[in-house]
Amino acid sequence: MSDLIVRSVADGVMTVRINRPEKKNALTVAMYDGLSQAIAAAEGDDAVRVLLLTGTDGVFSAGNDIMDFLQWPPFDESSPVVQFLMNLTQARKPIVAAVQGPAVGIGTTMLLHCDLVYAGAGTRFQLPFVNLGLVPEAGSSVILPAGFGYQRAAELLMLGEPFDAQTAQAAGFVTAIYPDDEVSAVAAAVAGQLAAKPPQAVRLTKALLKRATAPAVSEAIQVESGHFAALLQSPEAEEAFTAFMERRKPDFSRFV
Ligand code: COA
Repeated sequence: MSDLIVRSVADGVMTVRINRPEKKNALTVAMYDGLSQAIAAAEGDDAVRVLLLTGTDGVFSAGNDIMDFLQWPPFDESSPVVQFLMNLTQARKPIVAAVQGPAVGIGTTMLLHCDLVYAGAGTRFQLPFVNLGLVPEAGSSVILPAGFGYQRAAELLMLGEPFDAQTAQAAGFVTAIYPDDEVSAVAAAVAGQLAAKPPQAVRLTKALLKRATAPAVSEAIQVESGHFAALLQSPEAEEAFTAFMERRKPDFSRFV
């Protein structure tokens, strides 16, 4: 277990904390592996009935580490990020998430696969894939239009502007909103409540809830990943990543 992904088990709940606050919990390859290992450990441990996913105080995750994007382009089925998405979407046990502060890119899209998502009132979600010369991932290109309607999903995914917890709730992927300093405790209490329920009934209910959409989501993840992998190597994405690292505005005017 790495100290960037910290996990602990108590009273039927495995708490998994993304723990890289100095980089706004941006996710590296090793951290995706850590998240996958945590999900696998939760799935394989009879003492765990619920997984509780959190960030650190005031930040959930700034999404994929942009240096990793620059240095480590492969994004095929064996890549840690795609493996993480597969583990997340195929988890049988329920996942509760507590979110506050920035939740960017995969910091937003991983929530689409959690069962109960509690957001702090000040959470800032963002899907900036297009701004980075990339495309949506984690099945967001099918889940968001289904939950939110095409045009509102297009607004979030094409303009890539930050949006608030109310918008995320309207989009269907936030269960409830609480003050930022209460949201972690609320999510932990709900996780405990869920862990006390009959586990087989909970797991089957989750499977039934996901049954109709799972094949389309899985297919979308594969198709998205193909485009994502290709675009990671594109000049547009290179300009976006370099601009982020150089703390300047990207200039896409030369691209056709
Ligand atoms: N990858 C790598 N480093 C990141 C990062 C990311 N996704 N997000 C933040 N960081 C780093 C910053 O480079 C900075 O590092 P430094 O202190 O060594 O310079 C540190 O985390 C703090 O980030 P900063 O931008 O100063 O914090 P902020 O509070 O002003 O803004 C965010 C927070 C999340 C809004 C902003 O960092 C951001 O937009 N990050 C990029 C998000 C993104 O595009 N992710 C990819 C999605 S596909």
